Amino acid sequence: MEKQIAVIRGDGIGPEIVEQALRVMDAAAKKYGHTFRYVDVDMGGIAIDHFGEPLPAAELEKCLASDSVLLGAVGGPKWDSMPGDKRPEKGLLALRSGMGLYSNNRPAKLWPQLADASPLKPEIVAKGIDFIVVRELIGGVYFGEHRTEEADGEQKATDVMSYSEHEIERIGRIAFETAGKRRKKVTSIDKANVLDTSRLWRKVMHRLAEEYSGIEYSDMLVDNAAMQIAKDPSQFDVIVTENMFGDILSDEASMITGSIGMIPSSSLGEGSRGLYEPIHGSAPDIAGQDKANPIGTILSAAMMLKYSFDMDEEAAAIEAAVNRVLDEGLRTADMMAEGCRLVGCSEMGDAILKYL
Ligand code: IPM
Ligand code: MG
Repeated sequence: MEKQIAVIRGDGIGPEIVEQALRVMDAAAKKYGHTFRYVDVDMGGIAIDHFGEPLPAAELEKCLASDSVLLGAVGGPKWDSMPGDKRPEKGLLALRSGMGLYSNNRPAKLWPQLADASPLKPEIVAKGIDFIVVRELIGGVYFGEHRTEEADGEQKATDVMSYSEHEIERIGRIAFETAGKRRKKVTSIDKANVLDTSRLWRKVMHRLAEEYSGIEYSDMLVDNAAMQIAKDPSQFDVIVTENMFGDILSDEASMITGSIGMIPSSSLGEGSRGLYEPIHGSAPDIAGQDKANPIGTILSAAMMLKYSFDMDEEAAAIEAAVNRVLDEGLRTADMMAEGCRLVGCSEMGDAILKYL
């Protein structure tokens, strides 16, 4: 197969982790007889520096003209004082919505080799952690009106959160379909005791739960969910939730698996073109020092092969290579443990290539 992939290296550690992912993709292409063509796209802080805005229309066009998009990370202190619509993060949000990617899928799965790195007690970890957070990605408070005004001699800020039925239904269907291919359990997370958006969310989810009668369904309030993820994560299979709750809970979910540096994600809409990125940020404190963990990005590339290109075998080969390297005891600083060998970003890439 021949595929064109838009590559957004981004800011901070973005360029170095993406570099390793591209090496791995090239090795997979060579091994399985594919051709991947890469088109560089500027988004985030680097785009602000080059063009004065975080996602110029021409850069979004390049993504829409490609078969899929790989992203490192964006943002950093350099752009922190920019106004809201000129921040790097705004580019990411514009990319998600410009590509219509309403479904963000973030697996939280424990690699047994990293069990010691989990901050949870061993007896909780031993029950197993293997769930996926299906996060609504282009609605809710992230995309409502944002306003700061003068009112009665002080500043007043407002962020509007809204959801329509069709936005809830389409993400709900992704969750139920995903659960159908897994352990057949959906937990929908909301704040229906307070928010109207959550009450509507729950109503739509209940309608779907009746339709997908083979799936075990339950509701959970978001505050309780934050507690349950720490107390007994083995109870979850597929979590479905709105944009901001999903942002918060997916960081918690990743941390209990040992390192946020290991977790890939896919964002999909209608059709097979997706955006694949690690869920961690741009880590400006270690940028350019060859210390970052490239595995989240490498596994994101594997997800792209699997979900956008139907290259199941290729994706499995990359995952198996990562597994071998962890078995060997190689660790980047974020997941370093006693008895393991500390390696940098590029050496981690070398090791994964060796097993591929
Ligand atoms: C994420 C990030 C983004 C989000 C930020 C960078 C805007 O935290 O992908 O989880 O909140 O969605
Ligand atoms: Mg986040």
